[in-house]
Amino acid sequence: MRKRILVINSGGDCPGMNAVIRAIVKRTDQETKTESDIEWEIIGSINAFDGILAEPLELIPLNSKTVTGIHVKGGTILMTNNKRNPFKYPVRQEDGSIKNEDVSDRLIYNLKVHGFDAVIHIGGNESHKISQQLYKKGVNIIGIPKTINNDLSVTDYTFGFQSAAETATEAVDKLTTTASSHNRVLILEVMGRNAGWIALHAAIAGGAGVCLIPEIPFSMDKIIEKLKTRYDRKGRGYAIIVVAEGAYPIGEKSDIVSGTISRKISAFLKNLKFEADIRETILGHLQRGGSPMAFDRILATELGVKAFELIKEKKFGTMAVHLNSEVTNIKIKKVIDKYNKIDLSGDLIQTARGVGISFGD
Ligand code: F6P
Repeated sequence: MRKRILVINSGGDCPGMNAVIRAIVKRTDQETKTESDIEWEIIGSINAFDGILAEPLELIPLNSKTVTGIHVKGGTILMTNNKRNPFKYPVRQEDGSIKNEDVSDRLIYNLKVHGFDAVIHIGGNESHKISQQLYKKGVNIIGIPKTINNDLSVTDYTFGFQSAAETATEAVDKLTTTASSHNRVLILEVMGRNAGWIALHAAIAGGAGVCLIPEIPFSMDKIIEKLKTRYDRKGRGYAIIVVAEGAYPIGEKSDIVSGTISRKISAFLKNLKFEADIRETILGHLQRGGSPMAFDRILATELGVKAFELIKEKKFGTMAVHLNSEVTNIKIKKVIDKYNKIDLSGDLIQTARGVGISFGD
């Protein structure tokens, strides 16, 4: 008997997505070899939900040949997209305009006629809202959490995060050499959406003086206070400010458009005629790219294997997660709309404050 699993990844790419795809394929290969009565077939949907909705379908077989060695590669061999929600799917109209339509019934029909027994959906928070809606419509779906932001609740870490934090830390290290050579204040803007995990890890690991995160609205006066401690009477010194893209001043709102918050801080300091030269660096998509570090490869592999086990156990509507150092599962509905924000009374914040990092508060 043959059983088919469709693998779909959606949302932003992140290091580790290929590792999770490879793990799903290798685990099912093991099953086919040892449990002779079922032959498992893994198929990938190209460009998120496009592949299973396109006419003709755009699917690729995922087997030991197509996944060999991909675990070291960043990105995803399936391509991905963060604007392909099957419940609000962009459909070209006769007049050439694009209208978002609910095409979930067509998706479910295509899954049925092409004999898919289950779907593994790899995505972030927005993606798993879709997973839950499809589950409620009868799709045998398993979720796998991924995002560089680490903002998905009920999992210790999301794969992609540690690699992004490493990239951001390397950037702090590099900026420190030039800041100290020029007595400058250098501002590094990092990703993270509405959470400050990347910023906090990079600030502690890189030794920044200021770390601004969405969880703590900041005061520019407090930042100035901290910066002044970094310079002597001759104006010698330097400072690194790591700011999360979702951070915002007290009394204002988060504006997650790349470059906004770092330029706002830079302009404020320049208007104050702060004694040092100010420059800003927006790290952007460098945090999404590159080969996954070992931690993320291992986490991705664990979740890919677990996702298949959940299919075997018919635990549909659940997500493979790493929770309290255990690979386990949790109902998808418990994950969505619950963001993993930094605990302001937690050890990491206390550690940062303990080494003199200012949060602008
Ligand atoms: O969600 C991951 C993320 O990298 C965010 O941190 C960032 O704001 C966003 O995606 C960028 O999206 P895009 O790749 O569409 O520019």
